[in-house]
Amino acid sequence: MKDVQVALVEGSGDIGGSESRYRASGEARPGGHVRVNICAGQVAALGAKLALSRARASGSGLASSVSWWRNAVMYEVYLRSFADGDGDGIGDLPGLRSRLPYLRDLGVDGILITPWYPSPMKDGGYDVSSYVGIEPLFGTLADARELIDDAHRNDLKVVVDFVANHTSDQHPWFKRALAAAPGSGRARYHFRDGKGPGGSDPPNDWISAFGGSAWTRIIEPDGIPGQWYLHLFSPAQPDLNWDNLEVRSDFESILRFWFDFGLDGLRIDAASGFAKDPALPDFGFAAGDIFQPVKWTGSPLWDVEGVHDILRSWRAIADSYDGERMFVGEVVVNGPQRLARYMRPGELHTTFNLDFLKSPLDPGQLRQVIDSTTAAFGQVGAPAAWVLSSHDETRHVTRYGRASTGVPVPPPYPFPPSDRALGTRRARAMLLLLLALPGLAFLYQGEELGLWEIENLPDGDIHDPVWESSGHSIRGRDGCRIPLPWSGTRPPFGFTTPDGKPWLPQPPEWSEFTAEAETGREDSMLNLYRAALRIRRTRITAHDAPLAWIQATPNVLAFDRGTQLRCTINLSAQPCLISGHVLIASQSIPPGQLPADAAAWTN
Ligand code: NOJ
Repeated sequence: MKDVQVALVEGSGDIGGSESRYRASGEARPGGHVRVNICAGQVAALGAKLALSRARASGSGLASSVSWWRNAVMYEVYLRSFADGDGDGIGDLPGLRSRLPYLRDLGVDGILITPWYPSPMKDGGYDVSSYVGIEPLFGTLADARELIDDAHRNDLKVVVDFVANHTSDQHPWFKRALAAAPGSGRARYHFRDGKGPGGSDPPNDWISAFGGSAWTRIIEPDGIPGQWYLHLFSPAQPDLNWDNLEVRSDFESILRFWFDFGLDGLRIDAASGFAKDPALPDFGFAAGDIFQPVKWTGSPLWDVEGVHDILRSWRAIADSYDGERMFVGEVVVNGPQRLARYMRPGELHTTFNLDFLKSPLDPGQLRQVIDSTTAAFGQVGAPAAWVLSSHDETRHVTRYGRASTGVPVPPPYPFPPSDRALGTRRARAMLLLLLALPGLAFLYQGEELGLWEIENLPDGDIHDPVWESSGHSIRGRDGCRIPLPWSGTRPPFGFTTPDGKPWLPQPPEWSEFTAEAETGREDSMLNLYRAALRIRRTRITAHDAPLAWIQATPNVLAFDRGTQLRCTINLSAQPCLISGHVLIASQSIPPGQLPADAAAWTN
């Protein structure tokens, strides 16, 4: 079978309906390679060319496993902090590719890569300026092609983040909208006249997830302040108008592009934000309110009914491909019943369980989240996707070491103290709970090394747009995005070349937390992850028995997954008794006993 390489020759636009500027051409290359240049106008035709690539992926046998995603353990790669291949201090695709054997040996089923598209990087790539290419800082489409092929050879699926609620303000669509007169030329976004004298007040009371009003006023081409545009995140991320048919059809083409390219799935960023009440009415926000959709009912800006229609059209596209291409949604809504609506037949395959991530280490609350999730998801036939950390949240080693183990909104500053040893013990125990639950698990890079949140970054090192949007009141998410330590005893710990400077500073204490150091230490977090993932495959995934709770002492959670495995986690202050053969424990334990803040799998 011929191999296929794909390279993008950037046009001045992006996929753009009647304004498309792409053309596709195929050219045979020595060695049986075909190079496909995409320049203007025919993304649909491109699908046919790239079907070759899809056929190659199927030929490897990887695309044929049924519902591979239902029990998968996926590893989230925050690309710019994972591994740097070219010495510029920013993680990239060649760097990631060079570390695939590490991920294979860890025992995960696939990787979820944060946005890799061309971007001004105002929000770490969640501000996309072209949807069918690769950000040059990260590499090229050829690098992406090689990464996917290599991942598949290592039995790893590849899922990439898909940002469709908003574009970058540098996207050609937005630039064209700014240059157009008010009216249809701006129809891909939400532009409105302001209220009040001279239109100087925002069109409505909506607030942004990053702080402040969700509206920014533009200077019209004639130099005078004019209309306002909507952005539920930073001003550099204007929201798309999903009632616009060109937006819909362009994104369908973009989806096909990436499925043709060989991706096994997509993470749908901010999925609950796509649709808005077209009248854009006030919601009744008061000054100082914060963006908390988990508390909203009937909002005109979030979890609006029209989103389901969009997701259904996307699912139909995914289902037209072989190999079960999957969607995992970032859906932040009010409770598991609302969440489950996004996974009704014909919509998303699964969604992250952020209630689980945000739950304090309280056995009653954890059990309530697990039960309400499995019940609501069971009604729509979808598996849950459990998660403890991500590129958006304080690392759980740090959270679990605090007096209050939940996720306060907004995050307090100064940060409350954290007992790292306690947080690490609890993180080890929670890993065994996470991996024993039915469904998918998502791990966030570095949690397998026991990394903690870096909370003392100087102001000058803060990149997160939340810092600016919140008027410097919220320091943001950089502390969980510090480049990974791979080897050696000093920064940059093998993340970049020895003289390279990581884009965020690494703490010298990470010398004992490099992948290299932990590989050699039997009781390391890394070895706990490796062992637990190995046991999960044979004792849990292979049987997929339902979860059955066991009557346990107060503040202890215990459940069986069939006859193969019992998971017990002790969240009380006292040791508790356990019986059976210990398959793995989160720390060394005396016979028949489970100390406080420990967990074990037994049978
Ligand atoms: C959710 C992503 O996880 C976050 O990192 C990003 O800032 C927002 N969506 C906006 O795209």
